[in-house]
Amino acid sequence: MKIPSDVLEEVKHLRHNIETHNYNYYVIDAPTISDAEYDLLFQKLSQFEEQYPNLITPDSPTQRIGAPALSTFKEVQHRTPMLSLNNAFDEKTVSEFDRRMREGLQVEIVTYSVEPKLDGAAMSLIYENGIFVQAATRGDGTTGEDVTENIRTVRAIPLKLSREKLPKLIEVRGEIHMRKADFIRLNQQQEAKGEKVFVNPRNAAAGSVRQLDSKVTAQRPLSFFAYAVGKLEGFPSPETHKEMMDFLVDLRIPVCPVRDRVEGLEGLRHYFDRLSALRTSLPYDIDGVVYKVDNLQQQKILGFVSRAPRFALAQKFPAEEALTLVEAIDIQVGRTGALTPVARLKPVFVGGVTVTNATLHNEDEVHRKDVRVRDTVRVRRAGDVIPEVAGVMRNHRPENTTPFIMPQICPVCGSRAVREEEASATRCTGGLYCAAQLKGAIFHFASRRAINIDGLGEKLIEQLIDQEIIRSVADLYDLNLSILIKLERMAEKSAQNTLDAIKKSKTTTLERFIYALGIRNVGEATAKDLADTFCNLDLLMKADEETLQKVPEIGPIVAKNVLVFFAEPHNRHIIKRLRLSGLSWEEGVEKISEELPLTGLTFVLTGTLSRMTREEAKEHITDLGGRVSGSVSKKTTYVVVGADPGSKRDKAETLGVTILDEKAFFRLLNQEK
Ligand code: IVH
Repeated sequence: MKIPSDVLEEVKHLRHNIETHNYNYYVIDAPTISDAEYDLLFQKLSQFEEQYPNLITPDSPTQRIGAPALSTFKEVQHRTPMLSLNNAFDEKTVSEFDRRMREGLQVEIVTYSVEPKLDGAAMSLIYENGIFVQAATRGDGTTGEDVTENIRTVRAIPLKLSREKLPKLIEVRGEIHMRKADFIRLNQQQEAKGEKVFVNPRNAAAGSVRQLDSKVTAQRPLSFFAYAVGKLEGFPSPETHKEMMDFLVDLRIPVCPVRDRVEGLEGLRHYFDRLSALRTSLPYDIDGVVYKVDNLQQQKILGFVSRAPRFALAQKFPAEEALTLVEAIDIQVGRTGALTPVARLKPVFVGGVTVTNATLHNEDEVHRKDVRVRDTVRVRRAGDVIPEVAGVMRNHRPENTTPFIMPQICPVCGSRAVREEEASATRCTGGLYCAAQLKGAIFHFASRRAINIDGLGEKLIEQLIDQEIIRSVADLYDLNLSILIKLERMAEKSAQNTLDAIKKSKTTTLERFIYALGIRNVGEATAKDLADTFCNLDLLMKADEETLQKVPEIGPIVAKNVLVFFAEPHNRHIIKRLRLSGLSWEEGVEKISEELPLTGLTFVLTGTLSRMTREEAKEHITDLGGRVSGSVSKKTTYVVVGADPGSKRDKAETLGVTILDEKAFFRLLNQEK
């Protein structure tokens, strides 16, 4: 198909704009347009590419959504080896390093480039003539894994370098990482979906990079900072590391902004102190600083020892760890019913805060570390966020301790707790009977992005459930002023505000309502897909597994969860009560009729069917998106003929309309279902 030149121009323009906005948003954290405006640009580009598919190139921003899943990663030979760094844990090692540098270079004072040591996963990116062509993990330093498709989804990494003069080839080395805030958000989403939560940002980043399905990686908020260049071909090499990093910035490759250039040992010490103080306020995790001789010629002179450069040194921060005693191991029950063992600790000061609890994640983690009550443990503030037990001091263990046993019963509601097959989570089977799950479910239902009941916070929900005032989300709509003002910290005004918010929440959207139900694995995006496809709650509730799977992005697991949720009489009852309380949204049927299997087909029924009444047949057809008409015309697709048909059969024959007997009709229904 010939592509008009104005389209070519516009597409080029759109791509450039989108990547600029990606850069502003993901790299320099200074967006200049709203999300909606961004979406609009993206949509425009997608439309052009849909219209002219041969316009699609791998470097188009639309290609960041992930490619088909792989079964294994291909191996990649690094063009230059990916090295590791020598570590220093004390000042003496640092001053010896500086002395070696001065002696090796025969200078009085050495100029160093200094930068944070990022805590993520090492990555090598290759650009050929400005186009991103390959990404590989470090592997053993010589051979890594090809993770190109995964890295293509990372919006902070340019797919195309925009600069007039470009190197023929550049091998960019850097660290894929996850920002602290993104990590917390991701774990909240994982928890809400009933999926694995990550121990720290580094694990989350490394795990996301090694996904065989790049569509999964595309959902993970990854960031990148470059810290070195391997091969550089067809371009004059800068003279210093600093200039090299500035060159990368010029290419719009993200480089950590808190890097610097300093003179001598004094300068190194100063930078270390500065970064130690800055550490907790940085948006990403760092575990030390890296010192590099700035001049690249001097780097060459110094060379390498085995697998680490002689010209560089990482000075690690002292571990933010402390020793304390495990007083108990309690079990917390989350919204999805997951039982999480938590170590109750003798209060200890670590990394600027007093820690009294540390998550033990799950049964496997407790056993792997063999944490027991009365053990002395090393407590670490992982990723500056969640305190965790780093390890047990076995030689401090008193006598007569016993290994931890995961309870088989939910400590909140007494229902059975079951270990999931192929997963490490143990879950309470009590569902909404379990107060912990009920609290979670109601909190989720009322949350801002769901039904949005302003002011119905955790504390209030807790009181309402603990005092057995409510047993379900439907009970929220029966609350009144006299009940609410009896609660703790509830004055008449705030009670009235809460009631107003509850009332206001009755007008909602189908999308929000579906999301609010808290069906497992149905997050906001899936709720939107379901609402967009079905447009109507009854249709969604009636849909079978196959119809559900036809919804874009919905696979067998989600389809099953939706089905199981709506099959549960308790859930159907709650939904009915919510609607009776006046909860409503706009419903439509248009889209579903466009997308269902019998859409666009017109049926005429004649005669008596043996297996169902005519009304039932009609219902089946309309449920599947078809139309039923009373008379046969040229527009009729099928005439369904039962026993003792009337004149409609003859008319169908004259007009050449396909006739279906009962058997063929059922086959059609079942095959479409
Ligand atoms: S330079 C030729 N700079 O630390 C020098 N590495 O322990 C090679 N790392 O695998 C590495 N931040 O993934 C360098 N600013 C930084 C770094 C950094 C983190 C990682 C890197 C490497 C590991 C070595």
